[in-house]
Parts: sequence; structure tokens; C-alpha cells
Amino acid sequence: MKPRIAASILSADMGKLAEEIAMCEAGGADWIHIDVMDGRFVPNLTFGAKVIDAAKRATKLPLDVHLMVVEPENYFDSFARSGANGMTIHTEVSPHLKRQLDRIRELGCRAGAAVNPATPLSAVTEVIADIDLLLVMTVNPGFGGQSFIPGSVEKVNRARQMLSTARSAATLEVDGGIDRDTIGQAWGAGADTFVAGNAIFSARNPRAEIGELRDRCVVQA
Ligand code: DX5
Ligand code: ZN
Repeated sequence: MKPRIAASILSADMGKLAEEIAMCEAGGADWIHIDVMDGRFVPNLTFGAKVIDAAKRATKLPLDVHLMVVEPENYFDSFARSGANGMTIHTEVSPHLKRQLDRIRELGCRAGAAVNPATPLSAVTEVIADIDLLLVMTVNPGFGGQSFIPGSVEKVNRARQMLSTARSAATLEVDGGIDRDTIGQAWGAGADTFVAGNAIFSARNPRAEIGELRDRCVVQA
């Protein structure tokens, strides 16, 4: 298993988005993570299809779109048209989770399900065969630059066990507060994909920071 770094543009300078994305690609990022927020599911507003379009033009990397919105199904078609490669929706606002995940796959995208820190992993047990990605939030979603919730390590561990018991090959992604100090613990617990916003964009050398994060994913004794 090789760690995958998903650079979150939430912390990028929007005035030079294309350059920021190109910098992430040059630094070795694996995915570009795009946080869509609606001011309802989370208390913040961010991007829509136009930004996904712009990101698509700026990179060849896969676009990992994280929908922190109510009624996410309203956006599936337009985001897929804009070039999303994966769409992750929140279990907390997806009563018809299976239908919604199926639709994301029908559109040719990786289907992801996310759980907030307060949401038990049992929210996804019945759809485990229908997900390509499980996102364990390691902060309460809404803002970049928050601190990693320490209890998340144990939850990531359980998530990894759950996926292996189900013989699922789904990606196990963590999002929030991932930096040089926390990434190793999350990797040790079984996460394989790491969203990082603040850690990259507030670094003295953002391009090099991507490699620094990856280097901290080492086999733990
Ligand atoms: C938080 C978002 C994250 C955010 C992470 O609600 O889902 O993707 O960009 O930011 P950092 O890495 O700064 O904690
Ligand atoms: Zn995110």
C-alpha cells in the first residue's frame, strides 16, 4: 500500500488557483481535493461546478470532490460533466445512500461515503460493497486549519478492520488536521489517502511539503 496525498485547495490562494494546483502536481500530489460546502450542512460556503471546471483545466491529476452539502444528488451530473473523478457524500445527509452511491458510479466516478467525527462507522456497513472510498473525517467539517481529533486514530483502525473483514478494496481516506505530526498515526492505523490543506499551503515550501508528508508514512514498529 502506497500513501496517496490529496491536496485540498480550500487553503489555496483563489487568485491564482491554476498555479497553486500546478504546484501541487509538481510537488507530487496524487489527487486534488475540492471541498464543496453549501452553508447548510456546514457553516461555510465554497465552490461549485465552475471551480471544478477550472481545476480540471489546470491539472491531469484526479479530482476528489468532497460534497459537504444537503441533497448532494442535485450536483452529481454537473460535477461529473465538469470533470470530477470521485465524489464523496456525507452519510448524515444521504437517506438514500445506496441509490446516491450507485448514481455516482453510473456517472463513471469513484463513489465515496463520509462519516463525521460523531457518526459511527455502522452508517456505512450496509453499503460497503457500493463504496469505492470511505472518508473518515478527522475534524468536524467546514473549515481548513483545524486540529486533528486524536480519538480518530482508533476509529481509522476500526474502519480498516471493517473494510478488510468485508474484503473491500475501498480507499480509506482521512480529512482534517493532517500534518507532519498526525499523518504517521493515521497511516499506522490503516488510512491510505490523506487530505492536506493547511499543512501544504501554510508551509514555507508548499511544494516540498507534499513529499515531507509522504515521507512520514513509514511502517511503524
Ligand atoms: C474540512 C475539509 C478539508 C479541509 C482540510 O472540512 O473537508 O478537506 O481542506 O483542511 P486541513 O488540512 O487544513 O485541516
Ligand atoms: Zn474535504
